[in-house]
Amino acid sequence: MKKITLWISIFLLMVGTVLGQPSNTSMPKIIEKNGRHALLVDGKPFLILGGQAHNSSGWPAMLPRVWSAIEQMHANTLEVPIYWEQIEPLPGKFDFSIVNTLLAQARHHKVRLVLLWFATWKNGSNHYMPGWMKHQAAKYPNITGKNGQPVDSPSPHTKAALDADINAFKTVMAYLKGADPQHTVIMVQVENEPGSWGSVRDYSAAAQKLFEGPVPAALMKPGVLKELHVPVVSDGSWQKVFGDRADEYFQAWSIASYIGQVAAAGKAVYPLPLYVNVALRDPLTDPPATNYESGGATDNVIPIWKAAAPAVDLLAPDIYLSGSEKILKVIELYNRTDNTLFVPEAGFIPENVKYLYPVIAGGGIGFSPFGIDNDVQAENTEQFIKHLTTYAREYEAMKPMMREMANWAFEDKIRAVVEHEDHAEQIVDLGAWQATVGFGTRDGGTTKANAQPIGKMMIVKLNENEFILVGTLCHITFSPLAGNKGSAWQYLKVEEGHYKNGTFEALRILNGDETDWGGPQFGSVPTVLHVTLVVR
Ligand code: DGJ
Repeated sequence: MKKITLWISIFLLMVGTVLGQPSNTSMPKIIEKNGRHALLVDGKPFLILGGQAHNSSGWPAMLPRVWSAIEQMHANTLEVPIYWEQIEPLPGKFDFSIVNTLLAQARHHKVRLVLLWFATWKNGSNHYMPGWMKHQAAKYPNITGKNGQPVDSPSPHTKAALDADINAFKTVMAYLKGADPQHTVIMVQVENEPGSWGSVRDYSAAAQKLFEGPVPAALMKPGVLKELHVPVVSDGSWQKVFGDRADEYFQAWSIASYIGQVAAAGKAVYPLPLYVNVALRDPLTDPPATNYESGGATDNVIPIWKAAAPAVDLLAPDIYLSGSEKILKVIELYNRTDNTLFVPEAGFIPENVKYLYPVIAGGGIGFSPFGIDNDVQAENTEQFIKHLTTYAREYEAMKPMMREMANWAFEDKIRAVVEHEDHAEQIVDLGAWQATVGFGTRDGGTTKANAQPIGKMMIVKLNENEFILVGTLCHITFSPLAGNKGSAWQYLKVEEGHYKNGTFEALRILNGDETDWGGPQFGSVPTVLHVTLVVR
């Protein structure tokens, strides 16, 4: 019997290899060590160099354009929606043809998938609920505004909608379990930017009754209350415990509990990593919830989401804010011991590429611009190609060393700097060395500032005196610290090259004009350098 099982395993491994699919079939999962996280794919840390398709591109006729963008970008992962209205067009009748198409085409392109379950919520509305649900507004209601006005956002207090979403999501996950033994799909996003615009919470009679009742025990824990900046009390109504934030917190709890149940049901069937993406608020000014999508997992309600939806592995910020201070703050706020950092959407503009670096350095598991298959933000085709090219250059440099990067990120070996709006140089403490990164292009001793603040640098500390540098539109120099402080120093070797099969391969040694004036400089195409320093 044992022999037969062994032969079957060997046969399956051979089939997997012959078809060009990974033979390691271990489940994708998120692991944590010393407060840092890694996404394991085929048993090893993986970095999502992603691209997200437009909202209405998850249809067979649209996919050629999507794959073309993914190929041109050198992305290793496609994030693509699957729609409830498409998958369950009639109650209980499921159609998985789009899933089959996506799986087959992703394998053909040797790209992984993150599927986005557009269901009860899509940007705060119910627009992807199937028609048979939209026809039954009383059974699947929207929320009610403060003055009784209708609001275009589904109620999180409706058991019928919750049961229908649970049933559909479980069926999706069961289908994937059967159809995807090689784990082409590595994560699933549950809903899309849930929350409500136009009303901070649901004021329907059913919701009001809950709002006037006690705050659930899961939120009354001292740790949670402290994180929510309210006094630690043992009981009370929402208004009494949370004061002027009560409406928003109630909405966050209600939506997170609903999605938590959908996620838990799907996960019980097939335990892929699951996440919820977030329409952000300004992270610096603590605005009222009337200013943003209320009830989504904005930075102030992360503890509520964690308590209400433990089956959701991570809360992931969608970056459409502008300004480096705000964006770096968001990256910091969503990088927590209890939350793996992942940016599933960022505006598809060249200014955003630089944030890939602090995400990786922070131990994040990936980054993805939104709307790669045609760019509505571009004024014309040339500009679209420019946007695509900016990401393509980055991913092309990163892709061959993706596994190394993911490992280094997990082991906290990377530091990153991005150029701020003031273009000021930045200092990085590397233990025995201090690096100073300046921005702009240099001609001899003269630096020309970058027109836009898009310079960036990633420094990987391989050991005390040896570093991998990846950068654009910046230059770097070093000075000895600690025991070597004040000593003379020089570059022992600066090699330009790339990683291949886990090893750095040098294309040339940089010296003379390329390293004088303090150190190497980086142009607009990301360059990978292997630098060794020595004190004299
Ligand atoms: C954020 C949403 O999550 C996406 O689905 C898309 O609607 C973009 N906004 C639009 O820019």
